[in-house]
Amino acid sequence: MEILETAAALQTLTETWRREGRRIGFVPTMGALHEGHLQLVRTAAAENDVVVVSIFVNPTQFNNADDFKFYPRTLESDAALLQGTGATVIFAPSVEQMYPRTSVVRFDFGPLERVMEGAKRPGHFNGVATVVSKLFHLSRPHQAYFGQKDWQQVAVVQQLLADLSFDLKLVSCPTIREEDGLAMSSRNRRLRPEARAVAPRLYEALQLTAAALREGLSPGEAQQKGAEWLQQFPDIELEYLEVADAQTLQPAWAGPSAEQPLVICLAAWLGGVRLIDNVLVDGE
Ligand code: PAJ
Repeated sequence: MEILETAAALQTLTETWRREGRRIGFVPTMGALHEGHLQLVRTAAAENDVVVVSIFVNPTQFNNADDFKFYPRTLESDAALLQGTGATVIFAPSVEQMYPRTSVVRFDFGPLERVMEGAKRPGHFNGVATVVSKLFHLSRPHQAYFGQKDWQQVAVVQQLLADLSFDLKLVSCPTIREEDGLAMSSRNRRLRPEARAVAPRLYEALQLTAAALREGLSPGEAQQKGAEWLQQFPDIELEYLEVADAQTLQPAWAGPSAEQPLVICLAAWLGGVRLIDNVLVDGE
């Protein structure tokens, strides 16, 4: 499995693959890989002839300097983890390769990014859309794989594909969890033991909120119940817990139904580390 470091090298390779008629799968990541990422790669490998995995900690999507600075960078062990997953090539560019000049184009996803991550992390989705667009152009994928762990990111990238007529299909894959329910995340490795011990309560809060919705509580009541339940854990500082329409991400006013599935999303700080998670409530 080769590691490519320049945009030109990746472009040349994917151009050749396209000419040979190979189907290209693409998995964008920021590295510090875990089973959630590896499942995306395995799925991509099963559905395509070749798979590009990008590993790039994208500066333009961080609105917190420390988060960017302390984001784990573990290229060697990432490459080892990717052995045997079906990845064909790793693309690990420098910041200069991805941003030879400062980008000035700005994305605005309207209501989609006025809520949750978009509202709490101004500029975040502009950075995501910028880097994902660049990576799509370089890797020329037929299919790109994203995790439902970042539900709002999937919605934003779907919008990006539609608005700019990107000729590729987005495949969204289920969230992979630790045995105790904690959603896998590269940031989990920064949790201190006390924070790691309490972290599974986030998923419990989501499940409790989902159960309340299924029992017929209104979205507002269910939201309040989940948020209040989390207050008993002083190590968890909840930033938001929201019940939203799963497609538009706007606050939900009615319970879930087959026509209108809901998503419950949360973000919380645990000892200086910010985690997000969500569950879908489809009204079945
Ligand atoms: P990163 O956080 O590294 O995630 C890369 C991909 O893995 C994303 O699609 C994310 O949703 C998925 N993923 C992360 N944890 C997962 C889990 N527990 N289960 C399933 N999938 C999971 O998301 C990004 O990087 C960046 O924003 C990126 C798209 C690479 C643009 O820079």
